[in-house]
Amino acid sequence: MSPQQIKLVKETWGFIIAKSDKAGDLFYTRLFEVAPGVKPLFKNDIRLQARKLMAMVTYIVTKLDKLDVILPEIKSLAQRHKKYGAMKDHYAVVGECLIHTLKTGMDDRWNAEIEAAWIAVYKVLAAAMIEGQDSSTRQVA
Ligand code: HEM
Repeated sequence: MSPQQIKLVKETWGFIIAKSDKAGDLFYTRLFEVAPGVKPLFKNDIRLQARKLMAMVTYIVTKLDKLDVILPEIKSLAQRHKKYGAMKDHYAVVGECLIHTLKTGMDDRWNAEIEAAWIAVYKVLAAAMIEGQDSSTRQVA
């Protein structure tokens, strides 16, 4: 993840977050279309869940240049995901839905460089989540 990629991701997210609810709806609509099997895992109000996801991504995006600082929080999020029933294989489909949402939201502002930047970020995040789900280390509150 280069400084230029971090810059691109921050800029893109600034654009997406201005239409946060729309992006959240788009993400979950896509997720339940491409992976209907995960729908039963979402037990609570999906609009509220979408807001939580958007808030978490916002937080992560603001900390991209110092990810090590938020690693304990990512681990904690990952441990909660174990309880929600998220599986390793689900991370790829969630990544695909995230990219789809961003691409749709950005429309003709989207390009290959932006896509590569988001893929780089998501790879780091998904790897940390999967490692966090696996790890038996103490759960950070
Ligand atoms: C890096 C990727 C992900 C991020 C940033 C993320 C973020 C979040 C956040 C912020 C919440 C709110 C609850 C909490 O903070 O504990 C949540 C809940 C949840 N997530 Fe994720 N998530 C990710 C990946 C996934 C994946 C791969 C799955 C698999 C299907 C998943 C399924 C769920 C479920 C089932 C809930 C609980 C929903 C409910 O209470 O109804 N998430 N996620």
